[in-house]
Amino acid sequence: MSDQLREVETPAYVYDLDEVARAHALLRQALPAPSELYYSLKANPHPAIVAVLREAGCRAEVCSPGELRVALDAGFAAEDVLYTGPGKRDTDVVEAVKAGVTWFSVDSPHGIDQLDRAAADQGVEARFLLRVNDTTPALGQGLTMTGVASQFGADADWILAEPHRFGDRDAARAAGFHLYMGSNLSDEDALTAQFGQAAATARRLADACGTDVRVLDLGGGFGAPFARTGDIPVFPTLAARLADLLDESFPGWRHGEPTVAFESGRYLAATCGTLLTRVLDVKRSQGKPVLVLESGINHLGGMSGLRRLPPMVPHLHAATPGGPVLSDAIIAGPLCTPLDTWGRGVGVADARPGDLLAVPNVGAYGLYASLVAFLGHPLPDEIVVRSGQIAETSRLELRREPTNDSNRE
Ligand SMILES: Cc1ncc(COP(=O)(O)O)c(C=O)c1O
Repeated sequence: MSDQLREVETPAYVYDLDEVARAHALLRQALPAPSELYYSLKANPHPAIVAVLREAGCRAEVCSPGELRVALDAGFAAEDVLYTGPGKRDTDVVEAVKAGVTWFSVDSPHGIDQLDRAAADQGVEARFLLRVNDTTPALGQGLTMTGVASQFGADADWILAEPHRFGDRDAARAAGFHLYMGSNLSDEDALTAQFGQAAATARRLADACGTDVRVLDLGGGFGAPFARTGDIPVFPTLAARLADLLDESFPGWRHGEPTVAFESGRYLAATCGTLLTRVLDVKRSQGKPVLVLESGINHLGGMSGLRRLPPMVPHLHAATPGGPVLSDAIIAGPLCTPLDTWGRGVGVADARPGDLLAVPNVGAYGLYASLVAFLGHPLPDEIVVRSGQIAETSRLELRREPTNDSNRE
């Protein structure tokens, strides 16, 4: 850790933009050419990260008004944004259309009608990718998001049974399919299998429905370490294997018919992020060492409670490595709830109050997937590092604001 970072106010997330660029370059090498890559802002919508990925050539996948605002503020052209999500408020679709977004992922006939109304009201034409929930799950998925009863997409069997309900409307035109089969896969065979299944399903649906597939979004699921030491996997054979399977199902893809697209949040952002947090107290309880830190589930790992992520046992690196280690320790945050525990029975640096610890690989689903409003502690600073130097520091603020006149006497 650099001397500059040892001195920063904590808790703090540090985002290394060079690492974002490295992850992007590695993922691009793993994808067939030509293809588009969407950055899924849900992993980390910090504007500096979003801007680096825009400059690197990504498009933006957003699923809320907040993510759309960040993407546009970061300089994405509205036509390079794909607006996704299984449930969208009318007002959010209308605002997105007004902002110039023309590409949407829709999950049902109702979703198509909603988009049609919004586009017609604005006098424009929108295009939709129909999100598909395949009949069976893909093998080896990290987090099952398809092939089971799900809010995501329309069941493939439903589309085949009633294709007329999923077709063009006057102002919302069918432009392809969107499949997202699972997440956090580090194995090339599993990734190839799920993309192969996705492409075959899209082919079957296109033939049955007569869809002119202009865009085929095959999703993602590229794995990365979370809060553990390690590096992102490389996929040396994936691009060639995907090219072969696309040749079979969509022979025109090499000429952009259709445009093939992928999405990633975790792989692109995970390794850029480190959480710096200090030890608040050290004691023993019933024979076990207990470390109480400045950060708990309010700053990292809130989603593990929602089973969005595996249970947390973050690796905690001492600022000066190599010192003595405590075994069988409890690592807790500062919140007044027994749920605020990152690990039990784990090994950790033998730290003193005030010592600095670091959790690696938390650039994706770190701060933005945590219970930041729970118990009112200040949020961590977010420190952006470029070329080894701190480039900017900022902090999100949670504020209460009146939302209508009845609040103002
Ligand atoms: C449709 C869609 N795209 C992209 C992502 C991002 O996944 P990851 O961060 O694992 O790359 C998700 C995650 O749930 C998703 O549902």
